[in-house]
Amino acid sequence: MEVVKTKSRLQQLLINRGGNPSVGFVPTMGALHKGHLSLVEAASEENDVVVVSIFVNPTQFNDKKDLERYPRDLDSDLKLLKTVKCDIVFSPEADEMYPEPDNRIFDFGHLEKVMEGKHRPGHFNGVAQIVSKLFDAVKSSKAYFGLKDFQQLAVIKALVKKMKLEVEIVPCPIIREFDGLAMSSRNRLLTVDQRNEAALIFATLNKARNLIHHKNVQELTEWVTETINKSSMLDVEYFEIVDNENLLPVNNWDEPSTKVGCIAVFCGGVRLIDNIVF
Ligand code: PAJ
Repeated sequence: MEVVKTKSRLQQLLINRGGNPSVGFVPTMGALHKGHLSLVEAASEENDVVVVSIFVNPTQFNDKKDLERYPRDLDSDLKLLKTVKCDIVFSPEADEMYPEPDNRIFDFGHLEKVMEGKHRPGHFNGVAQIVSKLFDAVKSSKAYFGLKDFQQLAVIKALVKKMKLEVEIVPCPIIREFDGLAMSSRNRLLTVDQRNEAALIFATLNKARNLIHHKNVQELTEWVTETINKSSMLDVEYFEIVDNENLLPVNNWDEPSTKVGCIAVFCGGVRLIDNIVF
């Protein structure tokens, strides 16, 4: 496993491999966990070479405090990556990715106006900036993204379409802790009590799945929000049931679309997101 800091070194390594290998790419912000590793494993099953990027992208943080306290631990990330088949780790400094400010403004229409987009203004523009730069640097045939960040995946697919990029986007399932909490780099910011209480998020989403024959969409939305808010440690920012393709609100269970319930919950100052397919 080689660790590189610059785009030119990364490209040199890929060229040196010769033989036109298929490259699988996993973009991350580090503080790696088994969710990230599952993406790396999927990439290594389907490609000759696996590249993982580790870069805490400043332009996607709308909250400066969130950026400051985002967990960073390159040494333990590298140790974890050595336990799976990762060939190249690209961990650039900010200057390498943003030698000058990126002023590009992307337009993802409705996809960026709801849920994460609504509550984190500018977030998806920053994600699009860095992901397009990373795609350009790695030039992989496939890139792997977790369904944990459901809306991000929809935005990335739209980005690829819009920019006519030749990379195939591969969605990967959500990996959860033993009690159902979706794995997240932010989980390590929780106290022991908060961590235990956070399990209520998925437990509630899971119960909600069994209630679709008993409650309409509106009632179920309220039930999820109220059930989680009953905990003094949790505060729901939004819970919305949307069409999995266009993220438009679902009003009726009879609509033909696949429906996904997406949630953001504050646990103390830590913001957690999750989703479930109904
Ligand atoms: P990060 O939060 O580090 O996540 C990197 C990738 O890991 C994303 O595709 C995310 O959906 C996936 N992931 C995180 N937790 C997961 C889980 N529990 N199960 C499955 N996959 C999981 O998402 C980002 O970084 C950034 O926005 C990035 C795309 C790297 C751009 O900066």
